[in-house]
Amino acid sequence: MMAGGDGFAAVAGGSALHIPVLGRPALEFLNLRDGGVYIDGTFGAGGYSRAMLTAADCKVIGIDRDAHALALGAELARAAKGRLTLVEDRFANLDAVAREHGFDAVDGVVVDIGVSSMQLDTAERGFSFRLDGPLDMRMSGEGASAADVVARASERDLANIIFILGEERHSRGVARAIVKARAVAPITTTAALAGIVATAVRMRPNDIHPATRTFQALRIFVNDELGELAAALAAAERILKPGGRLAVVSFHSLEDRIVKSFLADRSDTRAGSRHAPERKRPEPTFRVLTKRPIIAHDDEVARNPRARSAKLRAAERADVPARAGELAGLLPRLPSLADVLKGR
Ligand SMILES: C[S@@+](CC[C@H](N)C(=O)[O-])C[C@H]1O[C@@H](n2cnc3c(N)ncnc32)[C@H](O)[C@@H]1O
Repeated sequence: MMAGGDGFAAVAGGSALHIPVLGRPALEFLNLRDGGVYIDGTFGAGGYSRAMLTAADCKVIGIDRDAHALALGAELARAAKGRLTLVEDRFANLDAVAREHGFDAVDGVVVDIGVSSMQLDTAERGFSFRLDGPLDMRMSGEGASAADVVARASERDLANIIFILGEERHSRGVARAIVKARAVAPITTTAALAGIVATAVRMRPNDIHPATRTFQALRIFVNDELGELAAALAAAERILKPGGRLAVVSFHSLEDRIVKSFLADRSDTRAGSRHAPERKRPEPTFRVLTKRPIIAHDDEVARNPRARSAKLRAAERADVPARAGELAGLLPRLPSLADVLKGR
């Protein structure tokens, strides 16, 4: 399938900036073909888009909410001579973006969620506890930052966010330490927050950095990453042609659970239950192609440690109308960003 090599050697932002994870299997599931139209919902450094453009004479719509990523992609868009359209938007809107660009249906959608190495490695973006910078973490640079959440959330909300989105056992202690510290001085830098978290998280030998889970939780919360993912799955259901393919690469269990549950629900072929046989289940809108998630081989993990936790799931769209469904059931129960900022 991959014509012209794997195409990852010289990506838009450059593979030195972000090494794509599980790119080859993800794109193999898309069944790329000449004349096809595909959405790369997470353009990043352009690794996936470049490989898609190399593999087939297709069109790609590359979406990213980060204007910096798209700016680096301009050269690739020029080289693609009209085959790559870059759009600054959230992937929750990927169906609307496709329609705005003249495509009522597409052949494939791929998302490779989370942060890019370019974002993590730029101190000013405030994603990393390893680099000191402003406590920002916004992928789009708009809306409330991590510093706003840390300054205004109640201790209870902070503890819940850190427990649920960071799976941090010491969440209550971390929330307490944050509230105590912010009473003395505002917490405005990544180094300050990392230091405060370290006072509340007991480390064992070989443990990950004590701030890892708290930073992950705040990043996911500030960018509404789980809500975006659930909405993107529903948007893909609306825009994919019958036979069109969806591939999702995720990096932790919270995300993978959402993809797994969505696809299980949309591909369920069981009849109504024994207790309510009259309640007919809607026809499946997807056929799952990955019974178990695909994970990276050891050699990919050796080249790129980020690949260690990656999981790929893929599905094929059936010839059945998309469901208008409530997505809240897919998401953990947490207050909204707006409510948290009120410091309820
Ligand atoms: C892991 S990187 C993607 C890397 C890309 N596959 C590559 O090969 O270079 C994730 C990218 O998705 C973007 N992103 C994350 N959530 C998004 C969302 N909800 N809407 C649009 N872009 C998003 C991030 O800004 C980041 O650039």
